[in-house]
Amino acid sequence: MYRKTLTAILAAGLALSSGMLPAEAENHVSNEQSDHAFDNKVIKKIDSENMYQHIEVLSQQPREAGTDGEWQGVQYIKEQFESFGYETEIQPFEFNKGFERGTPSIALNGNDFAGDVHTFTGSVNAEVEAPLVYVGLASAGEVGDEVAGKIALIERGEISFYDKIQNVMDKGAVGVIMFNREGTTGNQFGGIYEGQDIPAVAITREAGLELVDRLATEEVTATVSVEGASYIKGTSHNVIAKKKPHPNKDNGQIVMVGAHHDSVSVGPGANDDASGVAAVLELARVMANTPTDTELRFATYGAEEKGLVGSYNYAYSLSDEEVQNIVGHFQLDMVGSRDAGELIMFTPDGEKNLVTDYGAAAGARVSETVPYGQLGRSDHVPFFERGIPAALFIHAPLEPWYHGPEDTIDKISKEKLQDVGEIVGAAVYQIARPDTPALENANVAPGPVEYDFDDRPL
Ligand code: BES
Ligand code: ZN
Repeated sequence: MYRKTLTAILAAGLALSSGMLPAEAENHVSNEQSDHAFDNKVIKKIDSENMYQHIEVLSQQPREAGTDGEWQGVQYIKEQFESFGYETEIQPFEFNKGFERGTPSIALNGNDFAGDVHTFTGSVNAEVEAPLVYVGLASAGEVGDEVAGKIALIERGEISFYDKIQNVMDKGAVGVIMFNREGTTGNQFGGIYEGQDIPAVAITREAGLELVDRLATEEVTATVSVEGASYIKGTSHNVIAKKKPHPNKDNGQIVMVGAHHDSVSVGPGANDDASGVAAVLELARVMANTPTDTELRFATYGAEEKGLVGSYNYAYSLSDEEVQNIVGHFQLDMVGSRDAGELIMFTPDGEKNLVTDYGAAAGARVSETVPYGQLGRSDHVPFFERGIPAALFIHAPLEPWYHGPEDTIDKISKEKLQDVGEIVGAAVYQIARPDTPALENANVAPGPVEYDFDDRPL
């Protein structure tokens, strides 16, 4: 429903500035309901039935990155964009689908270690020989200069693998042996990240505690070796559809709307994120014949669930000039669950930006002012990192079906889809409409609204 902004629109002289015919303008002024509001040409066309049908098609099977399920989804999305008249591109890229652990080994004072050794996911191939030093849980406070040039023996637990390894590397460690946490018997764990280029291996808790005892009475020189480890690469795809503005009205700006089309392996991802894809497709359909002065780019990303890989690829393939010209990226992820909470806009730094400003205003125009909060975890992050205003539109708290086999079409709410489609549509149109030549000088509503930070649980 139309709420706050009509007076503002009229005060700003919308009827004239938007180039409406006098009769329309008259009609507009005389009717204070949403039926005749200025951006209805977009909002009224958005149809949740279309979005629901897209989800129905896309959620017939999982769409895990690199699988045939993803590829079928990609084909469907491309066909849809093309049917609306968009120039559409499929961009392939590689991602890490698995890890071949090769042959890890440990020797202690020249003797082969008796227990099982497991390569950390991501470990480099290397052999290092150096004194072994025990650093407890390897929290920053525990690790001193004594690990410089040595191999760190670390207990698992309390802080992340990343932080433990970074803490010992910061002090100059050359290798890592980690033993498992209390209450465990196995040694299949551990990951090390890009830039952490020392060999890292895992052993059982029992073997680790024995080594701790031994180090209390004797100096031990360890050899840690990983050979033949490597990532197994898969191929995933982004789908990008572009619409150029009217050539005489091109203001050089670009606005992007994105979602991820891949799902986790165990479920069909009806809400995560066929819902976002469906909204992107519906907005693309509605905007296809709407004149704009701004280039529109609709994108669906692959391998989001593997670490935002598709959106990182895309965001870092943009030239500096394109980055300058992209005024906002609207990310739609999990926007249709019957069982989730209310709409919120998340930014990686918890600060408002152009996207949240327009989203909040459009929310007030369509249904409810939308609050903002702080969260990464989706494809808005790489755009944010490139300095582009970006926000994630999502309902929170989350539904219980998140990342499970029950994330299916029967849990999808057409009302939620409709609301998000209208809000994002109104926001995008507000940026792209030809009668708002500069965003800063926009003289038509939705005008700015007050909106709050919200730290509700996920
Ligand atoms: N749709 C989720 C993101 C999400 C989850 C947002 C929960 C808000 C609450 C997304 O598809 C996802 O699962 N992302 C991954 C992150 C990625 C880097 C693998 C996640 O959050 O685990
Ligand atoms: Zn998602």
